[in-house]
Amino acid sequence: MHKLISSRKKKKDLNDLFELRLATNLTLIKNLFFSIYGKNRNTEFAALLQKLPKLFDKRPEYLKKQDIHRLGIGNWYQSEQMMGMQLYVDHFNKDLKGLQDKLGYFEDLGINFLHLMPITERPKGENDGGYAVNNYTAIAKKYGSKKDLASLTQQMRAKKMYLMLDFVVNHTSDEHAWAKKAKSGNTRYQDYYYTYAERDVPDAFEKNLPEVFPETSPGNFTYIPEMEKWVMTVFNTYQWDLNYTNPEVFMAMLANLVELSNMGVDVVRFDALAFLWKKMGTVSQNLPEAHAIIALFRMCLQVVAPGTILLAEAIVAPKEIINYFGTGPTKGNECEVAYNASLMALLWNSIATKKTALLYKSLIDIPNKPHDATWINYIRCHDDIGLGLDDRLIQELGWNPKGHRKFLLDYYCQRLDWSPAKGMLFMHNPKTGDGRITGSAASLLGLEKALLTKNKTEIDQSVAKIIMLHGIILAFGGIPLIYAGDEIGTLNDYSFLNEDGKKEDSRWVNRPKQDWDVIKTLKKKKSPQQRIRDTLKMLIAIRKKNPVFADHSNFTLHHTGNQHILLFERTSKSKKSVLVLCNFDDNPQVLDGSLLSKLGYLKNQEFHEMITATTNKLNSGFLEVKPYQLLWLQK
Ligand code: GLC
Repeated sequence: MHKLISSRKKKKDLNDLFELRLATNLTLIKNLFFSIYGKNRNTEFAALLQKLPKLFDKRPEYLKKQDIHRLGIGNWYQSEQMMGMQLYVDHFNKDLKGLQDKLGYFEDLGINFLHLMPITERPKGENDGGYAVNNYTAIAKKYGSKKDLASLTQQMRAKKMYLMLDFVVNHTSDEHAWAKKAKSGNTRYQDYYYTYAERDVPDAFEKNLPEVFPETSPGNFTYIPEMEKWVMTVFNTYQWDLNYTNPEVFMAMLANLVELSNMGVDVVRFDALAFLWKKMGTVSQNLPEAHAIIALFRMCLQVVAPGTILLAEAIVAPKEIINYFGTGPTKGNECEVAYNASLMALLWNSIATKKTALLYKSLIDIPNKPHDATWINYIRCHDDIGLGLDDRLIQELGWNPKGHRKFLLDYYCQRLDWSPAKGMLFMHNPKTGDGRITGSAASLLGLEKALLTKNKTEIDQSVAKIIMLHGIILAFGGIPLIYAGDEIGTLNDYSFLNEDGKKEDSRWVNRPKQDWDVIKTLKKKKSPQQRIRDTLKMLIAIRKKNPVFADHSNFTLHHTGNQHILLFERTSKSKKSVLVLCNFDDNPQVLDGSLLSKLGYLKNQEFHEMITATTNKLNSGFLEVKPYQLLWLQK
């Protein structure tokens, strides 16, 4: 709709286009607002309507023009050109200026999309890696200044690179100005949070609320002596949950969101958005009101800054994730992008079991995403790896869900001698057996152990696994996101164990510093690191040259009858389709040539493989796939 408006009204100026966008979204904005806050909120709604033009006025002209340009292009985020990397600015190259100096590194690899972990002001001590926010728009000194960010975004725009920053929408730190005012007894700001003088409401909530960080932050409420009240703190005790039943909170956060976008941010990562609405008697995740709030943010942002899109960080059950693209009247009107957390968990499951059965079952079970939406595909991020698997499907395979989850934790967290993985347990609950996994991609995939034991076969296998998993996310459909360092097989970083404020949180093991010394040696040695880097760089280049990898919802899963193989196709009528084939087993597997022939990938008993750029013959009518081999066949 907005694309149409912007193209039809070429002669209209930017303000007219804003008015048109507002008129187009007004009914939905109004319906959402009143559905969340109730019918008697005319004054508040009028205030929102007055605010939108003011927010638009503050948007720099060059971004307003970029917005119109992007509307013209359409779904730019679905392009095969999108290739992401995630990093902590200080762990990468000191600060924002240091990062800017390294833009060439990304260009060389083919990366054009950066997710910088929080760079805003945060408490000095524990701050959850910056996810405790003191001020949504002030840059923490150690990273630099607003000017540095402006310089970075300007250069990124010139290089056609995209920036993603976090919007920690669910909670502020206990040092945010609102929290400070609340602590000082200001009831207006106490209403920005869920605060209670008595324990009865918190106790009632606790009956159903799960614990996010049971080891370090048990319970969901924290007593604040200064205000003699309990405040809801679902994550850490120093992260206060914002009270979105108060429309003032929405208004204030909308202003923060727009300001972030006005700093030149292209994709806003909506952090922990599943938690935005709390309701007693429920687990207070994925509630319909949370979806309505997200849609309201989105509809308003689309009016003010339509070139900025939203990413849903909803690490929830597979069937719930898809709802963050919007359902029913808000279908396609929540987030444009969501983390494909299910695929991530399933890939780790397939590595440990050497089988793809659960992967197939789950992919089939998840409803199709809307056409305009896309995934962030990743094998791991800065957080832990949660076992977001569907128990019902585990059971259908004849496995016991509890036992299976225990096996996965044992496999990855060094509780099985024979396992190549060197991960750590995160938030393990001995009572329930629940737990999550931390570790760098390379360490979880066996490189750390193999290098220690100097076992060449295991080193090779680990390198192959690292390449195979990345090859899957590069080809799957969506934006591939690599964690900085994984492209050179960086191992776990155990230094966090000596740091106060970090040692309780094993996620720091998988947030290593970028190893520029290793990178310097890459040209000289044929090391595992070099093999990983060179192959990933090549895969990225192939992806970018082949528009079939753009996400046009052109993904088809093919069954092979072999439980170790994953086979999917990216189809296109006009472009050359690609068949992605991988073997999760440590023995070679074969694929019947008749399947390849049926799918149209055999010509005179030969097939073309894009990664090796070779044309090969079948062997006695079969295609042999080596352990952890990745093949991209071209039609
Ligand atoms: C998200 C972040 C995670 C953080 C949490 C609380 O899940 O990815 O790092 O701890 O939100 O803000």
